[in-house]
Amino acid sequence: MVVKKDGAILMLAGDGIGVEVMAQAMRVLQCLNDEGACQHRWQYDLIGGASYDQHGEPLTQETLRAACAADAVLLGAVGGDQWNDLPFDKKPERGLLALRKGMELYANLRPAVVFDALANSSTLKKDIVRGLNMMIIRELTGGIYFGEPRGIETLPNGKKRGINSLVYDTDEIERIGRMAFDIARSRKKILCSVDKANVLECTLLWREVMTQLAQEYQDVIVTHMYVDNAAMQLIRHPAQFDVVVTTNMFGDILSDAAAMLTGSLGMLPSASLGAARENNRRLGLYEPVHGSAPDIAGLNKANPLAMILSVAMMLRWSFADEGAARAVELAVADVLSDGHRTQDLIHEGDATPCSTSDMGDHVCHALKQRL
Ligand code: IPM
Ligand code: MG
Repeated sequence: MVVKKDGAILMLAGDGIGVEVMAQAMRVLQCLNDEGACQHRWQYDLIGGASYDQHGEPLTQETLRAACAADAVLLGAVGGDQWNDLPFDKKPERGLLALRKGMELYANLRPAVVFDALANSSTLKKDIVRGLNMMIIRELTGGIYFGEPRGIETLPNGKKRGINSLVYDTDEIERIGRMAFDIARSRKKILCSVDKANVLECTLLWREVMTQLAQEYQDVIVTHMYVDNAAMQLIRHPAQFDVVVTTNMFGDILSDAAAMLTGSLGMLPSASLGAARENNRRLGLYEPVHGSAPDIAGLNKANPLAMILSVAMMLRWSFADEGAARAVELAVADVLSDGHRTQDLIHEGDATPCSTSDMGDHVCHALKQRL
């Protein structure tokens, strides 16, 4: 893959703290440009509640087209209390789901990395989390999130019934499986596939396809784990995992749990990738795993590091720019070892919290030293 220094980026800040953390991501990109490390360009558009307020839709066709035409998309967060009572298809979350589906981003990479300086910030004992570096690979455009039939129907007797369907075709399992095996191969060569094959036929098929794929990847050791056990093992002994691959909903849940191992949900970036395009580059959507946090929105308190680390993932996965990606990640490690903490990373009174924009300042400063 050829390094791309002049990418066209679409920035969708979205709602709540999405706006504040995106502003810091933009500063980091600006800093890379100013230092001559890159010449990326970007434009802004709306998604989620912000788009609904302006256009009556959480994602317009124009925005989806702009996203598909970009080299990469950065997204803040969607959702907020003021949109909770909207009909289902107008909710901010639908905008995000429609974007993932419309861009055909079937693979969601969620790394959970414990920075040395944060081993104390986890609610788990530091011996359990120290050095943790795992990658959850979540299938993103299928499964129960999109399966038909779905909906809430009224039965002849007047009672209501809610329906969602867990559906996976062999092809869908195979392509996420290949992505996971390839990534496992580039790391420690161990892959854990998480399913519920003892109860759900759909995930029995998942297990069969993963087992078959394993034949082609003899150098990777595959294990299979039921999701309930995986949830327990994540808390009991997270270091046993390196790459985990799982379905859309299981991945949603397990990645929140994994996030807490790292100290805060405010630390977890993610990349959502589609099939490779020209020069082997992939269109990608990069977003923090955390949500829009309406309780602290607009207060300049949110942790922008997950968003900034998402920029690093973009540089790596959409632009093949390992140098710039590492510089951003090391800058984040630097500010943490210098003791800077937003409020989510602080335990009772061991430091004064810094604001969202202060954290952005610190990262930009550290980044300049790293370039
Ligand atoms: C996530 C979020 C989303 C999801 C919501 C906001 C639709 O929880 O990215 O993990 O469920 O995928
Ligand atoms: Mg989630």
